[in-house]
Amino acid sequence: MSSARRMPIGVLVSGNGSNLQALIDEQEAGRLPVEIRAVVCNKPGVYALERAAKHHLPALVLPNRQYATREEHEGAICRALEAQQVQLVVLAGYMRLLTPFFVRRYKNRIINLHPALLPAFPGTDSIRRAFEGGVKVTGVTVHFVDEGEDTGPIILQQALPIEGADTVETLEAKVHALEHRLLPQAVRLFAEGKLRLEGRRVLISS
Ligand code: GRF
Repeated sequence: MSSARRMPIGVLVSGNGSNLQALIDEQEAGRLPVEIRAVVCNKPGVYALERAAKHHLPALVLPNRQYATREEHEGAICRALEAQQVQLVVLAGYMRLLTPFFVRRYKNRIINLHPALLPAFPGTDSIRRAFEGGVKVTGVTVHFVDEGEDTGPIILQQALPIEGADTVETLEAKVHALEHRLLPQAVRLFAEGKLRLEGRRVLISS
């Protein structure tokens, strides 16, 4: 795919980066019309950085505590993304809430991934909370980010049954495998201009 047709994106990470890897794999296979122009990480030393390095992606570590305020931290992130003309910001396991400053700057151009069926189990540790809460169905949500926590318009959602034989570990594995499919799918739909917001509804054109 010629680079002219690829949308410049930035990916924010804080950890293992398996969802970053899913994006890289799809992009390298020619199935994702994006170019990952910036990987921004707020945690030094995490595996996501090694993944970026292996694939020669430009990565930047901006630790939270090097900045006096969240806005200053996000200002540094914005500058890095703007320098690369990023048009879509993907939160792939980015474990820090964004302030309205950042959300407004990239209004309706930030996608987040959540390991549960929102609005159920927002926040952290959702897989365990769903499992221990005894629900029979959980899943994965990909949504636009608004100024709340895990409250933005839902782009894609897919359910997973929780079986009697499941453990937290087997459920985690199933949720992560599903995340690795849904996140690239949502990014592809965005990059192809197929998502349209109507109030809180995200309409997908074919
Ligand atoms: C994913 O489960 C995502 O839903 C959550 O954090 C996890 C990140 O995993 N927000 P990874 O760093 O992409 O492997």
